[in-house]
Amino acid sequence: MSLLLRSERPDDAAEIARVATAAFGREDEALLVEAMRREPAFDPDLSIVAEEDGAVVGHVLFSRIFIVSPDGDRTPAIALAPVAVLPGRQNQGIGASLIEEGIRRCHRKGEKIIVVLGHPGYYPRFRFVPAKDHGITAPFDAPDAAFMVLALEPHALIGVAGTVEYPAPFLASTSP
Ligand SMILES: CC(C)(COP(=O)(O)OP(=O)(O)OC[C@H]1O[C@@H](n2cnc3c(N)ncnc32)[C@H](O)[C@@H]1OP(=O)(O)O)[C@@H](O)C(=O)NCCC(=O)NCCS
Repeated sequence: MSLLLRSERPDDAAEIARVATAAFGREDEALLVEAMRREPAFDPDLSIVAEEDGAVVGHVLFSRIFIVSPDGDRTPAIALAPVAVLPGRQNQGIGASLIEEGIRRCHRKGEKIIVVLGHPGYYPRFRFVPAKDHGITAPFDAPDAAFMVLALEPHALIGVAGTVEYPAPFLASTSP
């Protein structure tokens, strides 16, 4: 079976919601994706599905955010969340393929920084490091090891510190 990675299409919404709900065992992340589609921070090129035999088996969303310094300087960045793979298809590299494809697309678009709140055992393989080490913090309580940042260019994080400003739907959700 071959895996196709492609941008979401309008008719994927229900399948994406089904995958997210099955992966997380609740509806919060599916509702987050639905709410994000109405936000200016949403870029359909960065909402990527993994399709197998015509069915969506995985999805990842990357959204535009800002890192706001204590002086009010706003650095554009990207948030990776959520990523979901159907329970029966986990641990087969689909999540990694989606994340790597999203990182490549962000890089091609000229994006320089990606943040993620996620499993500290998973994201370092994509070169994410603890955001706190770079003075970047979440606007909500998050374990230091779980809030991570990836620089897409060698000097992308130099002179950048502050708190991440998420689009409103993320703050209503329990897990950005
Ligand atoms: C997390 C998730 C997206 C990873 O996708 P995947 O296709 O299963 O993962 P991959 O096959 O690319 O990678 C497998 C690795 O991820 C690790 N992994 C999977 N779920 C994990 C979890 N909840 N915590 C830590 N590591 C996890 C596996 O242990 C495995 O590690 P290994 O390569 O060292 O053996 C997927 O398991 C999923 O949808 N989980 C439920 C929803 C979720 O937790 N989303 C992420 C929120 S940060």
